[in-house]
Amino acid sequence: MKKLLSYELREKYLKFFEQNGHKIIPSASLIPENDPSVLFTTAGMHPLVPYLLGQKHPYGQRLTDVQKCVRTGDIDEVGDATHCTFFEMLGNWSLGDYFKKESITFSFKFLTEVLEIPVDKLAVTVFAGDEDCPRDTFAASVWEELGIKNICYLSKEHNWWYAGATGPCGSDTEIFVDTGVAPSCENSNPGNDPDKWVEIWNNVFMEFNRTADGKFEPLKQKNVDTGMGLERTICMINGYKSVYETDLFSDIIEKIAQLSGKPYGEDEQSTRAMRIIADHIRTATFLMGDEKGIVPSNVDQGYVLRRLIRRSVRFARQINVDSKELVTISKMYIDKYKKYYPELEQNESKVLEELAKEEEKFSKTLENGIKELEKVLTYMKNGVLNGKTAFRLYDTFGFPIEMTQEICKEKGYEVDLEGYKVAEAEHIKKSQAGAEQKFKGGLADSSEQTTYLHTATHLLLGSLQKLLSKDIHQKGSNITAERLRFDFNFDRPLTEEEKKMIEDNVNKAIKEDVKVVCEEMTVEQAREAGAEGVFGSKYGDIVKVYTMGDYDKEICGGPHAEHTGQLGEFKIIKEQSSSAGIRRIKAVIDTSKAISK
Ligand code: SER
Repeated sequence: MKKLLSYELREKYLKFFEQNGHKIIPSASLIPENDPSVLFTTAGMHPLVPYLLGQKHPYGQRLTDVQKCVRTGDIDEVGDATHCTFFEMLGNWSLGDYFKKESITFSFKFLTEVLEIPVDKLAVTVFAGDEDCPRDTFAASVWEELGIKNICYLSKEHNWWYAGATGPCGSDTEIFVDTGVAPSCENSNPGNDPDKWVEIWNNVFMEFNRTADGKFEPLKQKNVDTGMGLERTICMINGYKSVYETDLFSDIIEKIAQLSGKPYGEDEQSTRAMRIIADHIRTATFLMGDEKGIVPSNVDQGYVLRRLIRRSVRFARQINVDSKELVTISKMYIDKYKKYYPELEQNESKVLEELAKEEEKFSKTLENGIKELEKVLTYMKNGVLNGKTAFRLYDTFGFPIEMTQEICKEKGYEVDLEGYKVAEAEHIKKSQAGAEQKFKGGLADSSEQTTYLHTATHLLLGSLQKLLSKDIHQKGSNITAERLRFDFNFDRPLTEEEKKMIEDNVNKAIKEDVKVVCEEMTVEQAREAGAEGVFGSKYGDIVKVYTMGDYDKEICGGPHAEHTGQLGEFKIIKEQSSSAGIRRIKAVIDTSKAISK
């Protein structure tokens, strides 16, 4: 049978849904817009959250797209047949338009008529029901009428999709394809036989909004959100053993094999290494080539990127591939994907330069670092690498802790992670700059005005916690000389009265002119004292805790006003949605009204 290629599946999918009234929308960036709670876009629905919550989409109520996604939660599983850190998700949405029956029928028709998958090769799961939402006998009956026989009911753990801790969600029905292996049990189904049934498509019936206190409230509109993994689907339809046999990877794998002088598939270790390189360099290329392109660094997305590149360098070395060739592989990906993702071509020189720079930096120290680690391991009697050494490998040789753990695990050792954290904290304390530097990330400068706005941010969080919910926490902060911007978890807009109450409470604190007290203590003491710990223990074991009367207590690097009275008057100028379950407040202060200097 003719093999299905990736471009054919993309085109067939979009065309099918276009013919059924859907508008094609472009893929969004891999870096979520205004959403400090997640590092990457992990599903097609992600950029659509405001529309799932009820905002009107300019393209209407039926949408379809191919969305680039990154998920790094399963990074350890990369190298197996189906897990990728980057993948493309084919999706279609109904924003308050059609619901279960039409959605299931569309999926069925696409799979059986367009892709011509025999009906008996398909199986589905539906939601079994619980106190939040009834058993989905309706979805099951639609599947049954269409001729699907293998239907099983599963619990929330399997058949419920959450966008995040809060936000739009609902039960789903998942579609599986028969891999062709013999059944492992009687009545083999997706619930009891994962080797035989591989999931390719998930249709979510989004009718709830999950609130910060864990409740499921009905949404304004009933939506459908579906997602089909491009790589997996091509793999399954063509009867391949792994996604690396698809045209998305096959030439890359061939190139890596050629560079290593070893045929692909010869042994388990080199097969895994080749797959990891192919996967990680693709993800790194898309991250650096993204419209909001990022570069390797030690924080957030940049750190994930750094880990992906450094891990590729290590695995390249393992199979005798010169890690300079990673750039050649990245270039192959740019050429392969640029037709669909033109940003890769636009950012080509940046991608290749950044990759070359990171490769060079790390490959210089990798060899010595591995020698050092191997030497040290020979002294380790109890099977545990001490934290100090693990930190030295990071500090001197640039080994991300995850990499040290991985190498140790391969050699049958563990790493004392707690000891590593202690060593890291000591290092930060010594270099002092730690806390202040980090804090400046959210602060444009350290002028008096931004310092006072920072103090106002503390009073604002304290007031939100006191008046709205103690479960509110900071999800992002940005301060300029003009205003503060503060993101926090809350699942609905604030009412006018609530905004007024919050404002009044902050102004009450300002009028009382309470002293801003700074104390140094351990993270544990800070927690016991009830301090808000937005930054966790990243700063080191001794932290500064700022207290403003009964209004607020937080671990923070400062700087702050000396008395709250210096702030003058506080005013909320805007309260809006930032992303799923995250609200954003912009506020200003008028220091000309200050009662104390
Ligand atoms: N959001 C769902 C998923 O990622 C369907 O697209 O599986």
